[in-house]
Amino acid sequence: MLSTELTRFKEIGRVITILTAWDSISASFVEAAGADVVLVGDSLAMVALGHSTTLPVTLEQMLHHTQAVGRGFSNAPEKQPLVVCDLPFLSYQCGEDKAVSAAGTLLKHSCASAVKIEGAETETLLVIQRLIRMGIPVMGHLGLTPQSVHQLGYKRQAENKNGQDKLFHQAIQLEKAGCFSIVLEHVPNEISRKLKVDLKIPIIGIGAGNDCDGQIRVTADLLGLTKKQPPFAKPLISGRQICIDALKGWVQSQRS
Ligand code: KIV
Repeated sequence: MLSTELTRFKEIGRVITILTAWDSISASFVEAAGADVVLVGDSLAMVALGHSTTLPVTLEQMLHHTQAVGRGFSNAPEKQPLVVCDLPFLSYQCGEDKAVSAAGTLLKHSCASAVKIEGAETETLLVIQRLIRMGIPVMGHLGLTPQSVHQLGYKRQAENKNGQDKLFHQAIQLEKAGCFSIVLEHVPNEISRKLKVDLKIPIIGIGAGNDCDGQIRVTADLLGLTKKQPPFAKPLISGRQICIDALKGWVQSQRS
């Protein structure tokens, strides 16, 4: 599926579903669940590698995990979900050439056919435009942007008029720069409601209310696998406890 297909989904009113995957098993779950897009998010730094923020994950690790995700799919290539890979911290903040090399490496050596970038500062917009001119589709990410945790924390963004005006402006800039969609994380519902109407590209929400063109979730959060859940991502099952109980049962059965 081409990334531009998501705009067609928006036009026909089909809700877009995106789930994260970080290895072959999680990718096979997400494909079998029928999600439109798989994001190999840099949240894998926390979910799979045990870091306390997304900052430490490297380009090499993102590539390694994206390759594993590709090996987890069973459908024929044309039936597989679109794979988007996060550009990790410091792979695009140091200039356009470095960003093209990082994004190109992911597309060249894995199943990813697009990248996601956080923010819309002037330098970031230049990077996005260059990537798109080089044939690399880009998904934007605004609101709570975890790579800026040391500046923003993990709190809800755009709570006041200034913040909201800035966010609207940035979203328009991302559309103009050529992004094929925008992830909007942990912002008041009214923002996604307005952007959904104002922009032609899809608005994909997480903690941004139901009034979006699509929703994205960290699969480990939905399955209740992580020790600490974000307040806006309610687990569907208590996966962690289910796994612990099953394994405890096995350990005890071996001892008795
Ligand atoms: O890294 C990630 O999983 C993400 C989602 C939270 C959108 O960026």
